[in-house]
Amino acid sequence: MKKLLDLISAEVGAAFESCGYDANLGRVTISNRPDLCEFQCNGAMAGAKLYKKAPFMIADAVAAALDSNEMFEEVSSVKPGFINIRLSGSYLASYVKQMAEAEKHGVELPKKETIMIDYGGPNVAKPLHVGHLRSAIIGESIKRILRYAGHEVIGDVHLGDWGLQMGLIIEELKERKPQLCYFDESYEGEYPKEAPFTISELEEIYPAASAKSKVDEAFAAKAHDATAKLQQGDRGYNAVWNHILNVSVSDLKKNYEKLDVSFDLWKKESDAQPYIPDMVEMLKKRGFAYISNGALVVDVAKEDDTKEVPPCIILKSDGASLYQTTDLATIVERQKLFAPDRILYVVDKRQEMHFTQVFRVVRKAEIVPEEVDLTFLGFGTMNGKDGKPFKTREGGVMRLEYLISEINQAVYDKIMENRSVTEEEARETAKIVGLSALKYGDLSNQASKDYVFDIDRFTSFEGNTGPYILYTIVRIKSILKKYEEQEKKAALAFAAPQNASEKDLMLALTRFQDVFGQAEAEYAPHKLCAYIYDLSNAFNKFYHETKIMAETDLQKQAGYVCLISYVKDVLETCIDMLGFYAPDRM
Ligand code: ARG
Repeated sequence: MKKLLDLISAEVGAAFESCGYDANLGRVTISNRPDLCEFQCNGAMAGAKLYKKAPFMIADAVAAALDSNEMFEEVSSVKPGFINIRLSGSYLASYVKQMAEAEKHGVELPKKETIMIDYGGPNVAKPLHVGHLRSAIIGESIKRILRYAGHEVIGDVHLGDWGLQMGLIIEELKERKPQLCYFDESYEGEYPKEAPFTISELEEIYPAASAKSKVDEAFAAKAHDATAKLQQGDRGYNAVWNHILNVSVSDLKKNYEKLDVSFDLWKKESDAQPYIPDMVEMLKKRGFAYISNGALVVDVAKEDDTKEVPPCIILKSDGASLYQTTDLATIVERQKLFAPDRILYVVDKRQEMHFTQVFRVVRKAEIVPEEVDLTFLGFGTMNGKDGKPFKTREGGVMRLEYLISEINQAVYDKIMENRSVTEEEARETAKIVGLSALKYGDLSNQASKDYVFDIDRFTSFEGNTGPYILYTIVRIKSILKKYEEQEKKAALAFAAPQNASEKDLMLALTRFQDVFGQAEAEYAPHKLCAYIYDLSNAFNKFYHETKIMAETDLQKQAGYVCLISYVKDVLETCIDMLGFYAPDRM
């Protein structure tokens, strides 16, 4: 369906043409002076230079040509040469009606592509912490936005399971329980099915090992050896690694479920291992990789680099692969299995250099066809009120589960404060509303920026927050329910707006296609957030100024109900793309 701005521009353009000017001058934008008009065209200004005429002469003629056009309520020329436009109410209502009847509110779908999104990116054996939160929340939203646009989207969690952290855990476990069969090189039997540790033990082992490696060189060296041995296929080490993976993954899945985040693929760094030898061979054979200080590297610096881009290390001197290696080989694998048109990485922006190096090797060695788009979408840090990366009150790394329960508690308290619902219902509602607080608090910021995590603000039912949006939807739901119970009703139909706030609400609805298009093209969920905040404000203003249930003109009332029910649809479409949903009451 054509966008409203395009339709208006076409009419205004035709008027320019009928007055003897270029139709392209008729481009219309949303007014930046909503107190004066709804749309504006500045084409007469540009035309003045082109035709060497006073701009107001052009504007006057165009406005006169549009005078009897039914699309408009008013077109006026204002000195020095602006054209101010107000849309006719019935035209606006018919446009909104078309939107409501169209599929996906009338958005024009782009050419369908296969897109892989690499997000989440947790590391096994380490608890999910708030650092992984942003990747999950932003990635999930972008996945849903791209799906709405009709793309085939494959979300991959890309577990970190192949680096030094695995060697550290294995070595630490070996020191603690040397008698385990995994460490007995002469052991030839089957390995036990039961893991030799629980998730809580595992979560304690890693930080202990990591701390030890920083002060104990011999331990660090052994952990490096263990990593290389694991990667070379040592049977016992691989059996331990398998246990680590299983214990971790079931815990991770539980956590992602709480966030309403789901992945199509649970691939991991280690899945790239089989692709590494051939890739290394190719890089060597084609002369891209060479030995430097014992390591195998590929130069990726470019002449016009403004900051140094060091060579990309492919293999360390002990033959162990690194983060870059698995990321490269993962691209080989993705190309082979899915041949995507794009791969999008939603990762902490501090990893930008890593991806610059990886992408450059991919281009240099033509690991994927040239037209395949590789995008790094780096996000900023979630900070505490002190402006430093978010920590617990005790100063530790905040675990995601604790963060979620803190938010839910805050929402629960608010619900219980002044409402008469059962504790049980309040708990359930708090989960739904808490999720909106968490996700909206994050997504309403441009992803690349750092933001301050503020529980009080995020959980507030007023202001630019998730709960405010939900509150608006719940309010509409409750009106619709009351209307449902009303005995006499007219048939639901969109009608021309009765007052300014109703017209503004309709105008806000018509912006959906444009906003969605931008959110999709720019991977920008924050644009959807800004939009639903505006739409909610427009609704609430209308609501406060209009008697809906008390309206005695049933026809009028049906028009209102039709409109607000559609507002609810659009809001719900948007929050679904942001990754949360509304309760029935709150
Ligand atoms: N596991 C990594 C980390 O925690 C993030 C992985 C991001 N994805 C990727 N393909 N490198 O830092």
